[in-house]
Amino acid sequence: MFSCWLSRLYWALSKPTGRTKPLIWGSLSRSLVLSSQRRIPELSSFVARTNTCGELRSSHLGQEVTLCGWIQYRRQNIFLVLRDFNGLVQVVIPQDESAASVKKILCEAPVESVVQVSGIVISRPPGQENPVSHLETKMPTGEIEIKVKTAKLLNSCKKLPFEIKDFLKKTEALRLQYRYLDLRSSQMQYNLRLRSQMVMKMREYLCNLHGFVDVETPTLFKRTPGGAKEFVIPSREPGKFYSLPQSPQQFKQLLMVGGLDRYFQVARCYRDEGSRPDRQPEFTQIDIEMSFVDQTGIQSLIEGLVQYSWPNDKDPVVVPFPSMTFAEALAGYGTDKPDTRFGMKIVDISDVFRNTEVRFLQDALSKPQGTVKAICIPEGAKYLKRKDIESIRKSAADRFKQEVLPVFLKASRNWNSPVGKLIMEEQGLQLIRLLEVQEEDVVLLTAGEREKACSLLGKLRLECADLLEAGGVVLRDPALFSFLWVVDFPLFLPKEENPKELESAHHPFTAPHPSDVHLLYTEPQKVRSQHYDLVLNGSEIGGGSIRIHDAELQRYILATILKEDVKLLSHLLQALDCGAPPHGGIALGLDRLMCLITGAPSIRDVIAFPKSFRGHDLMSNAPDSIPPEELKPYHIQVSWPTDPEAEKSSLNHPCHPES
Ligand code: AMO
Repeated sequence: MFSCWLSRLYWALSKPTGRTKPLIWGSLSRSLVLSSQRRIPELSSFVARTNTCGELRSSHLGQEVTLCGWIQYRRQNIFLVLRDFNGLVQVVIPQDESAASVKKILCEAPVESVVQVSGIVISRPPGQENPVSHLETKMPTGEIEIKVKTAKLLNSCKKLPFEIKDFLKKTEALRLQYRYLDLRSSQMQYNLRLRSQMVMKMREYLCNLHGFVDVETPTLFKRTPGGAKEFVIPSREPGKFYSLPQSPQQFKQLLMVGGLDRYFQVARCYRDEGSRPDRQPEFTQIDIEMSFVDQTGIQSLIEGLVQYSWPNDKDPVVVPFPSMTFAEALAGYGTDKPDTRFGMKIVDISDVFRNTEVRFLQDALSKPQGTVKAICIPEGAKYLKRKDIESIRKSAADRFKQEVLPVFLKASRNWNSPVGKLIMEEQGLQLIRLLEVQEEDVVLLTAGEREKACSLLGKLRLECADLLEAGGVVLRDPALFSFLWVVDFPLFLPKEENPKELESAHHPFTAPHPSDVHLLYTEPQKVRSQHYDLVLNGSEIGGGSIRIHDAELQRYILATILKEDVKLLSHLLQALDCGAPPHGGIALGLDRLMCLITGAPSIRDVIAFPKSFRGHDLMSNAPDSIPPEELKPYHIQVSWPTDPEAEKSSLNHPCHPES
């Protein structure tokens, strides 16, 4: 098995770095191929081969086989190793005069050329079975080899920009530029095949077991209020534009009005926002909507879906997933997507310092929203170097404009800190108790407005976890998948650019919590919503809500609270007035889910043809310019920046290090 072979190799070669990821990737690859073999028996129907390279074993001895694949490497013009997606097999190049033409083909075809060979499966000579390959990894087909009778060169390969060897380091820009070659790597093969298997199981679960209907919705749509920035598509009507949907949200609600009361779609979504390791401008959601459902109904459905589609080679998913309110998440972890695989929770220590002499704590506590918060980093004194602490303090001051005070608990039970002397004995004892501090631990302490203090410590918690892990501590076991529901979000949040105005915390179609509806008309900022997020290992992998199905309420929220132009949504408002059933739904971010399951560093590694960091396709150079005459039908004229050439060449250069 190719991926087995390569992944072991990858692991072996990655060992000196001491990082855990390659090891995990290796073991993942191994089990996927095994399980995919069980599930796809007919790998050779309809095509010009009788078997796949990786499937041959001593049980095939004596069989005439025809194989198609890529030349992985050759040894002394005697052996050739052929590869297909299922693995590697050794082919014996005939040496006798009568087979001179076969020998010529197999010896002259460059590496990565595509060949078809026919021959007999034979045992390797005694002592040569199950050998290690030239790179010292075991070969599952190692007991046999192919005695070739005929060979055909199907396509010769020119020199490639990089060799197809997983352990060779390539820049991501190069990988994206030659994505079709990068896809030959065992890791990309594994990621895409696992993705396909999981989507298949999700379809089974939703359609076959629970009666969902797979409906495709349009991608040429119109601008909608709120949410992410949309991509705009020109039309032939002057001044009229389509927009690409950021999600099928409105359509799935309209499907409920249309009586398709259990909808799902593997939906493409488009958002014109900055790319990040967990974000792409076009991405895929498992999009779901149901009529006559409540929050617990959706949550149970999703728990079952994840459990059913979960890869066989992983520890089974335990349901129900734990749940935490938005307020608890912010208070304990400083974020609405807490990574609950490890502790280091934020603790409020305001009361400890009511009578402090430390000036910045005093100042903070004298303000109405002022608090003092802390996290305890276990064995921080051992693993965090002086320069780490300095960089934590500097980043808090520069990025968050907040002061962070590190205090170390020494064996003598003294606090080693610039303000150590100002911490009174009783305060020290309270700190030890509240934060469960042990010798050699470090406490990071900050003061200020509650949300700001929590958000800073939430970020420092993750940074410190990285630092501890770099020192060898395993805090976030890569084999552990920690699911969490975050619930009871506020319906609205203050706008960042103008905190006096409100925007939807999820989207404007989310229903208020039934017991808070009256507050909509008096204190809308206090209304909780029926919005729920699914978090996995600190990453938001899904979000949904129970929707507003009352047109009047929807109109009020849009017009009066969110100050949106309701005309843009008149179709939806009209539909809600036509007997819309109560309904709710959720969308899972498929790319993010796959990224976490495979342990990939970015969602680009689970997408066949992703966009670069700047939203470009480095392979085809999209987006590309269009000649002015082709823009005319769309009534569009380009106004170039002042230095168009510089702009153009920097954006279009295929090796732009933007990824
Ligand atoms: P939301 O905007 O929370 O909800 O998106 C749902 C999930 O989609 C994933 N996601 C992304 N993945 C990759 N790249 C992106 N740019 C990106 N943006 C979002 C996340 C997220 O949790 N219509 C609603 C769902 C609903 O209410 O039913 C929606 O789209 O994993």
